[in-house]
Amino acid sequence: MGRKFPKQTIRDVDLRGKTILLRADYNVPLTKRGQISDDLRIRASLPTLRYLLEQNCKIVIMSHLGRPKDKDLKFSLKVVADHLSKLLSRPVELLDDCVGEAVHQAVRRAPRGSILMLENLRFYDEEEADDLTFAKSIQRAVRADYFVQDGFAVAHRAHASTHAITLCVPGLAGLLLEKEYVTITEAMNNPKRPLVAVIGGAKVSDKILLIKRLIKKADRILIGGAMSNTFLHCRGFNVGKSVFEPGMEKVVAEIYDLAAAKVGAENVDDFLVLPIDVAVAPEISKDFPRQEVNIDKIRNSDMALDIGSQTIEKFTKILAGAKTVIWNGPLGYAEIDNFAIGSARVALAIAQNKGVVSIVGGGDTADFILKWDGHDGANFTHVSTGGGASMALMAGKKLPGIESLLDAYGLR
Ligand code: 3PG
Repeated sequence: MGRKFPKQTIRDVDLRGKTILLRADYNVPLTKRGQISDDLRIRASLPTLRYLLEQNCKIVIMSHLGRPKDKDLKFSLKVVADHLSKLLSRPVELLDDCVGEAVHQAVRRAPRGSILMLENLRFYDEEEADDLTFAKSIQRAVRADYFVQDGFAVAHRAHASTHAITLCVPGLAGLLLEKEYVTITEAMNNPKRPLVAVIGGAKVSDKILLIKRLIKKADRILIGGAMSNTFLHCRGFNVGKSVFEPGMEKVVAEIYDLAAAKVGAENVDDFLVLPIDVAVAPEISKDFPRQEVNIDKIRNSDMALDIGSQTIEKFTKILAGAKTVIWNGPLGYAEIDNFAIGSARVALAIAQNKGVVSIVGGGDTADFILKWDGHDGANFTHVSTGGGASMALMAGKKLPGIESLLDAYGLR
């Protein structure tokens, strides 16, 4: 079998004793009290870190956290460095900047086999501006032999630490980046069939490219969440007070035209599968019981907050026969238990389908799945660490954080 990853990885190069500047995405969710509420992205980076430690590298990690304005210590990476140190059972020293002489001296003094972490890159506007001078300052402080990109979740951004830095230091892929890329692109380009896509979430406009690509690649597309309200509205159903995206008539019509061109107009509703019933409430609140109605019976005072039981049955039957499933976006208002039932039943159907290749796109869907199956995602082939990045890759876009790495041409 040929090589499935087009870039050089940390396994392709002799890294023994080298200084590595590692881009991770430790942009993890924090509680109001500043504690990490989900450490998937940190745990997912451990294989690369362990491999580099085995090579006796000096590892200097860089990441962003949140979207701070200037140097706001609420967004310090201290909590991440402490957590990583616990997971690896070894010190992880957080430096108080990501550039400058003090950083340089700290890196210079650190022995091989040690791990340092630079402070939040987004304390500098130059980071998001993809500023080459800033990237050069990072490299001047670290003097890395290689840059390693392992922050898959930020690889869709062309920032100084994902793009400009590769003009200063030769860039290799880490193991997480490679795994995410290969798993997602294989499922899209070379799936075991039938490939069933499950698409939810709020906005059609955010996912137009993804939906168009899935029309080409998938055998069936199941649509739920607030997104299905937009589809239902455009197809002439009254969706009452439900959240939907106005002005999408043309886009939805184009989606149906593309689908009809692929499967024939008479088969379109079997290919793009919309809910046949929904769970409604007068408002988004855990105080309202779950009431179910058919999609032609949604009252003006109702909000559709989940797919209904008949839809769940239809979706789960289809999923039981799938060989590959790609899931992006919750199917209801999953923060409230009463309206998380559709997503939970779909998760169960996928988990019970032994042998299926199941890929869960990151963001809200990954959050839901990790809570649903006890924080390890073991019931699924791959729970992506990337929200925007996994969607962009599924949609067939090139990711600047991957494109800028050294080509693997000539290897293997
Ligand atoms: C993410 O969480 O999707 C990445 O860390 C990118 O963060 P951003 O959307 O703030 O650029």
